[in-house]
Amino acid sequence: MGHSAIRIDSRNEKEGVLVPKKRKGTKNFMDVSLELRKKDFESKAGRYFVDILPVGVQKSLKRAVLETGIESEDGLKWLKHALSDNGNGHPNSPIARGVYEDPYNPRAFKYLYGEEDALSEMDKGYIFTSGAHAIYLRLQSIIEKLPDVIKKERRKLKLKKSEKFVIFNIGAAYGLDTIYMMVEHPELADKVEIVHIDPDEDSLVCGMKYAEKLGVIKSFKFVTEKVENYEKGKAHMILFIGMFCPTPTRQCIFTLKFIKKFLVENGVVIFSTVQEKMLMEGPILDFIMWTYGWRMYFKADDEPGQIATLAGLKHEKAMDWEDEIGHNRMTVARNPKPSVLGRVGDVFKLVKALVL
Ligand SMILES: C[S@@+](CC[C@H](N)C(=O)[O-])C[C@H]1O[C@@H](n2cnc3c(N)ncnc32)[C@H](O)[C@@H]1O
Repeated sequence: MGHSAIRIDSRNEKEGVLVPKKRKGTKNFMDVSLELRKKDFESKAGRYFVDILPVGVQKSLKRAVLETGIESEDGLKWLKHALSDNGNGHPNSPIARGVYEDPYNPRAFKYLYGEEDALSEMDKGYIFTSGAHAIYLRLQSIIEKLPDVIKKERRKLKLKKSEKFVIFNIGAAYGLDTIYMMVEHPELADKVEIVHIDPDEDSLVCGMKYAEKLGVIKSFKFVTEKVENYEKGKAHMILFIGMFCPTPTRQCIFTLKFIKKFLVENGVVIFSTVQEKMLMEGPILDFIMWTYGWRMYFKADDEPGQIATLAGLKHEKAMDWEDEIGHNRMTVARNPKPSVLGRVGDVFKLVKALVL
C-alpha cells in the first residue's frame, strides 16, 4: 500500500554514487511559493533545523529547497549527510536511516508521538516541525473524538447492551490511539472489541505490552497479518489512520473499495489524510521526508470526501474532523445498504475514478 516516489538506486549506491529516481505526480515543496518557503526557514523550527547542520550542508539544504530541488547535487549532499554516521558510530539521523531502509517501518512514530526521546539533534529538529507536531495532534484528536463516535454508532446500529462494537484498527502499528482511548474511557471496556491488524509483529507486540501495562488488554486482539490476508469476520468500524498519507488519490479509492468488504452494513470507516495545509506551512519538512523516501501525497480540501464517494461509500461529512492545526483530516464514510441502483452507480463511479 502506498509507495515512496524517491528511492536511491541501490546499484549506484554500491558504487558510492547516490542517484534519486525520477520524481512524478502531485504537489510538493517546489509548488509552494518562494515566499512561503523562505518563511519556513525563518520559523523557529526552520532555524533550529538549519543551525544544527554543518555550514556546507546548511547551504545545500537551503539551495535545494529554494532553488535546485530534490534531484540536485544539493539534494544529494543533504541526503548523504542525513544518512551518514556522526563519528560516534551513530547515524546523524536515526529517523532518516530507519525510514530510508523501510518507509513503512513505524519506529519513527514513537518519536513523533513523544513515547521516546529523539536520538540525535537532527531528529529533534525534525520533531520540532509543525508537520511532525501535527501527527501528535492527530493522535490526541482521535483519542478525544472517537469515544463519542463509538457511542453514537452503537445507538445507530441498535446494538444490544451485551453486543460488542467491533473495531478493526488496520495498520495499527503500536495502536496508541485505541489503547490510550480505552485507558481514558473505561466505560467502553465491555462494549468494544478492538482488533489491531498489522504485519509488523514488533510494533503489535509493543502495543500489546502497553495495553497490558495500562490494564486495558481485555478489549484487544492482535493479528500479525497483512489486511489482504485477513478473513475473519466484519467490523462496525474500521480505523485506517496514517495509511493514506503516502498514497496517491486513485490508489486510496481502490484500497478503500477493498477494505469496505470488512464493514457490516451501515458500518463506518474513518481514514486520515495529510492535507495541503501541511505542505503550505511546512515545505522544508516535505523536502526532508521526500529525500528520506517518505513522500507524502497531500490531499486537496475536497479530495478525502471524493475518495470516500468514489469508493462507493456515503461520506458522513458532518462527522469529519481535523487535528488542532488542520494538517490531518479524519474522514468518516458509511457502508451503505446495497441496492441495484447503487451497483450501477458504483460502476459509474469506478469509471470516473479511472479518469481522475
Ligand atoms: C504509518 S504506519 C500507521 C500506524 C498507525 N495507524 C498510527 O496511526 O500510528 C503504517 C502501518 O501500516 C502497516 N501496514 C503496511 N502494509 C499493511 C497491510 N497490507 N495491511 C495491514 N497493515 C499494513 C505497517 O506495518 C505500519 O505499521
